[in-house]
Amino acid sequence: MGSAIWFLSLHVFIQIYTIVATTDAGDSTALRSLWNEWKNVPPSWGSGDPCDDGWVGIGCTGLRVTSITLPSMNLVGGLSGDISTLSELQQLDLSYNKGLTGSLPSSIGNLKKLTNLILVGCGFIGPIPDTIGSLLLLRFLSLNSNGFTGHIPPSIGNLSNLYWLDLADNQLEGPIPVSNGSTPGLDMLINTGHFHFGKNKLYGQIPSQLFSSEMTLIHVLFESNQLSGTLPSTLGLVKTLEVVRFDNNSLNGRLPLNLNNLTSVQDLFLSNNVLTGPLPDLTGLNSLNTLYLSNNSFDSSDFPSWLAALPSLTTLMMEHTQLQGQVPATFFTLSNLQTVVLKHNQLNGTLNIGPGVSNQLQMIDLQTNLISGFNSAGTYTFDIILVGNPVCDETGATNTYCTLPPSNSLPLYSTPPKNCQPNSCSSGQISSPTCRCAYPYTGTLQFRGFFFSDLRNRTPYETLEQSLMQFFQSHQVPVDTVSLSNPRMDSFEYLLVNLSVFPFGPNSFNRTGISMIAFAFSNQSFKPPPEFFGPYVFHGDTYEQFSDEPASSKKSSIAIIGAVAGASVLFLLLLLAGIYGYRQRKRAERATKGNNPFAHWDSKKSSGNIPQLKGARCFSFEELKKYTNNFSEANDIGSGGYGKVYRGTLPTGELVAIKRAQQGSMQGGLEFKTEIELLSRVHHKNVVSLLGFCFEQGEQMLIYEYVPNGSLSDSLSGKSGIRVDWTRRLKIALGAARGLAYLHELANPPIIHRDIKSTNILLDERLNAKVSDFGLSKPMGDSEKGHVTTQVKGTMGYLDPEYYMTQQLTEKSDVYSFGVLMLEIITARRPIERGKYIVREVRMSMVKTKSLYNLQEILDPTIGLSTTPKGLEKFVDLAMSCVAESGADRPTMGEVVKEIESIMQLAGMNPNAESASTSATYEDATKGASLHPYSDESFAYSGALPASKIEPH
Ligand SMILES: *[C@@H]1O[C@H](CO)[C@@H](O)[C@H](O)[C@H]1NC(C)=O
Ligand SMILES: *[C@@H]1O[C@H](CO)[C@@H](O)[C@H](O)[C@H]1NC(C)=O
Ligand SMILES: *[C@@H]1O[C@H](CO)[C@@H](O)[C@H](O)[C@H]1NC(C)=O
Ligand SMILES: *[C@@H]1O[C@H](CO)[C@@H](O)[C@H](O)[C@H]1NC(C)=O
Ligand SMILES: *[C@@H]1O[C@H](CO)[C@@H](O)[C@H](O)[C@H]1NC(C)=O
Repeated sequence: MGSAIWFLSLHVFIQIYTIVATTDAGDSTALRSLWNEWKNVPPSWGSGDPCDDGWVGIGCTGLRVTSITLPSMNLVGGLSGDISTLSELQQLDLSYNKGLTGSLPSSIGNLKKLTNLILVGCGFIGPIPDTIGSLLLLRFLSLNSNGFTGHIPPSIGNLSNLYWLDLADNQLEGPIPVSNGSTPGLDMLINTGHFHFGKNKLYGQIPSQLFSSEMTLIHVLFESNQLSGTLPSTLGLVKTLEVVRFDNNSLNGRLPLNLNNLTSVQDLFLSNNVLTGPLPDLTGLNSLNTLYLSNNSFDSSDFPSWLAALPSLTTLMMEHTQLQGQVPATFFTLSNLQTVVLKHNQLNGTLNIGPGVSNQLQMIDLQTNLISGFNSAGTYTFDIILVGNPVCDETGATNTYCTLPPSNSLPLYSTPPKNCQPNSCSSGQISSPTCRCAYPYTGTLQFRGFFFSDLRNRTPYETLEQSLMQFFQSHQVPVDTVSLSNPRMDSFEYLLVNLSVFPFGPNSFNRTGISMIAFAFSNQSFKPPPEFFGPYVFHGDTYEQFSDEPASSKKSSIAIIGAVAGASVLFLLLLLAGIYGYRQRKRAERATKGNNPFAHWDSKKSSGNIPQLKGARCFSFEELKKYTNNFSEANDIGSGGYGKVYRGTLPTGELVAIKRAQQGSMQGGLEFKTEIELLSRVHHKNVVSLLGFCFEQGEQMLIYEYVPNGSLSDSLSGKSGIRVDWTRRLKIALGAARGLAYLHELANPPIIHRDIKSTNILLDERLNAKVSDFGLSKPMGDSEKGHVTTQVKGTMGYLDPEYYMTQQLTEKSDVYSFGVLMLEIITARRPIERGKYIVREVRMSMVKTKSLYNLQEILDPTIGLSTTPKGLEKFVDLAMSCVAESGADRPTMGEVVKEIESIMQLAGMNPNAESASTSATYEDATKGASLHPYSDESFAYSGALPASKIEPH
């Protein structure tokens, strides 16, 4: 009775559990491993099902995880290789988590479906793994603003779908890789629009092969590196270019003449190099907006006349460029002109600011030249600086143009309140432009290109605010307002603007909100108004006030499983077992520390007292913890009196089954050692092999090969959805018999299994039977002369009555159990069902003179009785001889094998043929809740068997 409830509860438990967990098990394991690895994961993580229960930042398609979007979550930790098991992942964005450090695992190359890999502004270090070149679907690769070192992996050249490549702001060094016969290179990226490599330590020449007319690059950013040599003329072939930055390098030589072909270029930054030769004629650049040529070694030349022919020019930076002669007055009439810096040249003559001067002009800086006079047509509103010219030497400091203007003559832009009085807010809250107190999400927009230079002009910022709000509204991001402030240039010629984004509704964002905003920037889905702004990168600040705080405990999942089990007896049992287990564990820890037979065991050396293992190895507790994701519920695939069985994934991807003894079920260290030595010697196709063990930290675990198709019991009951017809049943019976015969007759020493039953016969993908679970097994020593006297153990229904009565264990006890198993195979009934014992039932119903021995009532109809399964009567005969009362009357397992083989030949089968894979023969793979094979096995170390299991009826 007690046992019935136990089994019932176990079934209920496992079924409920399987219904709850719907996400693909491997994906779920990988996520739980990230959850383990990271601090500050969203509180919704860890409990329930990642896809079904809405873990923040996890996107699924069907049951597979296809996106992880967790920018600005304050995550702390690393990125282990475990993530590589998410084989359907398309998008990974972990940007703005400065606490994410360590190197990128090379196994990231396994994420073959990845289209967006975005890790902007984290703390990653080390080389970018070459395997990144295997992510052939990649469109966005943004690894900028980390601490990556080493070379640019040439394999990136293989990413023919890549559109966005941003490796800027790292510590990358070495030359720019281009392809040669054997190696790919960046020149192969003809579909890429963005090369962002600024702020690294790249050196060497820019290979001329890097650029070609086939390319479709829009932004080529190599600023602030250590590149040398000349700018290759092939750059002039890339007609699509809009922003070109090679400033702050060591480029020398002449600029190629065909730069003039780049008619779409808006920003050209070549300042701070050692360029020589004449200034190029750039008349063709009729889109040119910003030209930075300062601090180079060009030949002395007159102020180039073509400059006055650039219709879009707003900003001219030609400080220290050996210009001489006079600046033509017509130049200042360019209608978009805002800023002209011509400091430190030899410009001479009289400066004429005539009529028709650009009304956008903000500053003309001509410090330290040779200008001797100044004429203006009238009053002007912009700054003219002639400090350090003869014109100022003579007249002293009386003219405004002979003094430096105050540096902040106008306040910098800052979004004003919208017709309201700003609040004085408390505790870190900020008054929004609508005068609400809230916790904004803040960060810095860094523009690497921009098409204006008057930082005090409001229009670009107001336009930017509008486009930000439009973006958020159209993407349903809960944003109330945005505010911009403090536009400024930094030393890399980037424009920086502070951004604050205020929440709509509550006074702080939840994690979903933050990740939506951050993703808009990290993924570049937000595009700033193109008339003012070029390429940008956003640097998100840490957000401290998530409304979905706090993540009180990572372990809430346990409580949920507990709640599922609810009032079930199982829960009480587990609870009792847990309390008992805790005390036992303490005891065991104390005991094993002083008495550890493995204490001096070194897995590399093989000496002394160490276990003599063949093909099995020692796993550390930490390893197993990792492989099972901290023994997560998702990997719990069965349990019983002995403890639990977990699925584990080795770093090689191989699945294993890990049996973890619960604290009450531990055996002594020496017994454990004896057992694994025994099991490690067992190697047979029809026996589940032991791969290793763990004996550490008060734990005893056995690591077995993972057998995917469940147990024979599952197949017979229909739970696994695998149809087992008569020929398959024969094949399974033969496999099980061979496995058992091996244990009895070929293993050294021979092994008596002691717990043969349908739940211990596992089926692999080709339905090969594998005998599993040696928890009760006994080796037969020479001295024992064919029998061992033991405490009676086994499972009711399968237990040999002779053994039960005499307590003398022989191989024939296994033969008896096997006979019961054979009857189970033809009837699909449990040995004891509704109080009826199958051996007795068959014996009583059997009429040998009738067809099928008159057993039609008892036989499993799914065998296909209409066609009279060939050899079935012989099979029944064999089964009945196995369950003969006296062991001496039963055949040996070797004889059983031979008999089944002959029955198969009778049925027209080849007993040595391989069966087909089951994949094509599932009736319905999703039918029914699949009970895992490892559930309900007896791991029964001494004393651990539930008492009811050994009572034969
Ligand atoms: C690049 O692609 C080619 C052809 O697909 C392949 O042979 C080569 O191994 C790849 N190289 C790298 C470094 O991934
Ligand atoms: C091709 O380039 C790689 C590095 O980019 C270099 O190691 C290799 O020697 C080169 N092979 C040839 C044939 O030039
Ligand atoms: C590009 O520039 C070169 C050199 O100035 C010139 O010969 C060539 O005709 C130009 N090509 C086009 C398509 O404008
Ligand atoms: C300005 O400089 C040029 C070149 O050095 C020279 O030829 C010219 O005479 C100078 N003009 C004046 C007014 O000094
Ligand atoms: C987070 O905020 C969004 C928008 O305000 C809301 O739709 C969502 O339900 C919130 N999520 C949680 C977990 O509170």
